[in-house]
Amino acid sequence: MSLTTPLVRKLGLQHPIFLAPMAGGPGTPELAAAVSNAGALGFLPIAYLPAARTRELSARLREHTGRPFGINLFAPVPTPPLPEDSAAALEVIAQFHGELGLSAPKLPEAAAEPFDEQFDAVLESGASALSFTFGLLPNDRIQAAKARGMFIIGTATTVEEALLLERAGVDAVVAQGSEAGAHRGTFARDFESSMIGTMALVPQIVDAVSLPVIASGGIMDGRGIVAALALGAQAVQMGTAFIPCPESGAPEAHKAAILAAAENQTRVTRAFSGRPARGIINRAMAGIEAASDTGSVLPYPYQNALTRAMRGAAAKQGRPEFLSLWAGQGVRLARRLPAAELVARLAAEAETAMHRLGALGGVTVPRASSTN
Ligand SMILES: Cc1cc2nc3c(=O)[nH]c(=O)nc-3n(C[C@H](O)[C@H](O)[C@H](O)COP(=O)(O)O)c2cc1C
Repeated sequence: MSLTTPLVRKLGLQHPIFLAPMAGGPGTPELAAAVSNAGALGFLPIAYLPAARTRELSARLREHTGRPFGINLFAPVPTPPLPEDSAAALEVIAQFHGELGLSAPKLPEAAAEPFDEQFDAVLESGASALSFTFGLLPNDRIQAAKARGMFIIGTATTVEEALLLERAGVDAVVAQGSEAGAHRGTFARDFESSMIGTMALVPQIVDAVSLPVIASGGIMDGRGIVAALALGAQAVQMGTAFIPCPESGAPEAHKAAILAAAENQTRVTRAFSGRPARGIINRAMAGIEAASDTGSVLPYPYQNALTRAMRGAAAKQGRPEFLSLWAGQGVRLARRLPAAELVARLAAEAETAMHRLGALGGVTVPRASSTN
């Protein structure tokens, strides 16, 4: 028995599993290729990358796989002005720079993402699916990608967002539950009121839209995959589960932190990037948050730029206390396996979970008496 759905067949996959696009390090072409070659859908994240680098990485991915893969970027969001007084934000990071042997941090420049050039590189990437998060893509871009035959996927954290994406013309929706690792995709309202768990979010989005839904957030093994399909999803998108893989580009300290973490050790924070994102609690997160009343967290993308040197040095020096340890609430279920083996294991576990449910279905549950 193999688990398949109309979406899985449409995308030419063997398993209802998407590798979550993971920008900022974990999402390498090697990881995406290994996942695609194993019959799931690998994704190349290109947020934060210039067009030239996007071209280079997608070429590397095409060298490693002839199977379908996806590409992912952030929807363009207006950059706010840099707050006039950024001294408190610099001060808290300066302490950490001192400990890492870095010179004092500098005020970040308003480095707008070169969206237009980046999008041209996306169109030429050879990806068969294009997904995005943080909002909506302009209509002309959606049409340009469709004209290339790309399958378009938006990210929703509420039913309202899923409906906005459907109206914008996407082909499928990722339902990102509040358990999910890293950035919240929320774009229609404040993030606090959009923290809906995967179990509640998926069936409500499935009922509201007439598009395939991909469940994401806290799914770590075959049981989670079968549960998501039972809720009406046609595939799952898994991030944290793939971070410890040898093909992932996450620093070793990040991989080790995930393998050692428990379900109650993550929280959503703005500390590292200025946007809410879930990660394992560490000294940098707690320190920046503790000082945050004094305006020490800049808005995205400035805070992201401000903490970049600290995170880079921490990765090189193996100092997890200064890294953004992005992870979802399913951390305790993480394992260190090569990506192809993990995909095979997930598929086998999902089959076992289905068999177990089938066996349960064979048990006769006594009916309640009509007189009770
Ligand atoms: C390290 C990391 C980086 C991520 N980067 C992106 C990204 O670039 N684009 C995106 O659409 N989602 C991104 N996500 C979110 C995932 O798509 C997905 O919603 C999340 O990983 C699901 O939760 P899980 O980590 O519990 O599986 C990222 C997740 C992680 C853990």
